[in-house]
Amino acid sequence: MLQRPCTDFDPERVESPVERQNRLSALRDACPLAWSDAHGGFWLASRHSDVSIISGDAASYSSAKTFNEDLRQWEGGTVVPALPMRFIPSETDSPEWDRYRGVLNPHFGPKAVESRRARFADFAHALIDGHIETGCIDVVLDVGNPLSAIGTMQLVGFPTDDWWAWAKPFHEVTYHPTGSEALAKAVTDIEWVYVQIRDVIAQRRRQPESDLLSVLMQQELPGGPLSDEELFDLSVQLLGGSIETTTALIANTLMYLDTDKSCRSQLMGNRKLLRPAFDEFLRYFTPVQNSARRTMAPVQVGGIELPAGETILMSWASANQDRSVFPDADKVNIERSPNRHVAMGRGKHFCLGSFQARMIFEVVMNAIFDRLPDLEILVDEAVRYPSIGNVNGWVQMPARFAPGRVRESEDRAEK
Ligand code: HEM
Repeated sequence: MLQRPCTDFDPERVESPVERQNRLSALRDACPLAWSDAHGGFWLASRHSDVSIISGDAASYSSAKTFNEDLRQWEGGTVVPALPMRFIPSETDSPEWDRYRGVLNPHFGPKAVESRRARFADFAHALIDGHIETGCIDVVLDVGNPLSAIGTMQLVGFPTDDWWAWAKPFHEVTYHPTGSEALAKAVTDIEWVYVQIRDVIAQRRRQPESDLLSVLMQQELPGGPLSDEELFDLSVQLLGGSIETTTALIANTLMYLDTDKSCRSQLMGNRKLLRPAFDEFLRYFTPVQNSARRTMAPVQVGGIELPAGETILMSWASANQDRSVFPDADKVNIERSPNRHVAMGRGKHFCLGSFQARMIFEVVMNAIFDRLPDLEILVDEAVRYPSIGNVNGWVQMPARFAPGRVRESEDRAEK
């Protein structure tokens, strides 16, 4: 009989980041693979070594999500509690996964991302222009969300005029708790986005353009071209996986720099440090806190033998605080080296958008340091997600600064 050493860990529990870290730290020390009854039940893996083994072995641990027609519900997948949607490629296994990553990778590699940097930088400055004369800006709602959302939407091929109607349901579905009315409303709003996505796919079938959707749908692939349904699931992941995560990193970083002024001056004075700082803030805040897998065969992990069919939630957040890997894990060290964090995952499902996220992070930090050097977060008005859930993010984060001037037209890339 399988012994299940229990924890009351629940990603949706309302608790502070410190309480969450203390809970995970106790598990790492005493019970590295623990069973939780929450959300249908799952094992929680909290040590860096176990999380690395599980995420590095896609043959034994499945990410696939399927719809059970009899029970009318989704099963498997990487998100606990499950969302009523499937992400492609993250909720697929090989050989299906290879089909998607093969076509997506060239568009998200370092060169492709660098070619977008000037456009993103120009856009970040335009967002700041919209607020610079007022002395107030919300780093979540006025900077992180629009930059990540519009950037991704333009790239994929979606119209951006109404970007907030597209991004808001993704913003809200990320943090409203399961069973809440607010979540039900956000899910309904997301249905509207789905209709728009399907419309755009149909338009591009009729008349291709130069965007990613058009390129992907025309690509010759073993097994035939991508279907509308595949393009849809893929679009949902690109939107759902990029907006809140990148915004969460930017917001947490700015909040931290508000309290550690010497770190802020160091970064402002030496922008090369933004590279290692990106990794350290990723490690420290771990915007995507957890991802799930399902065992495909009997495995031994965390000292326990598990049969096939068990759900394991890997805590990237806990692995990133593991003192056996990160000296002074509870402190930010922007020059940490090596930094073997797993905030972007590990193994074959490693984040497709890692270079894009880094580029956006650098663009935003540089724009804020250059144009709003005295930015001060209005800490009392900043609102965290009600629970840390799967994304460690913020609902809003207003800030103030000494008002400045909008850019002259010759400073803009697109006149
Ligand atoms: C700070 C920002 C980001 C963080 C922390 C983050 C984190 C992660 C993590 C932890 C995974 C692995 C999930 C797993 O193994 O189950 C992942 C996968 C993925 N991410 Fe990101 N991500 C970020 C930004 C982005 C962006 C900007 C995009 C797209 C433009 C993106 C697209 C994806 C995709 C498509 C996958 C699935 C990869 C696969 O399964 O092969 N992410 N991300």
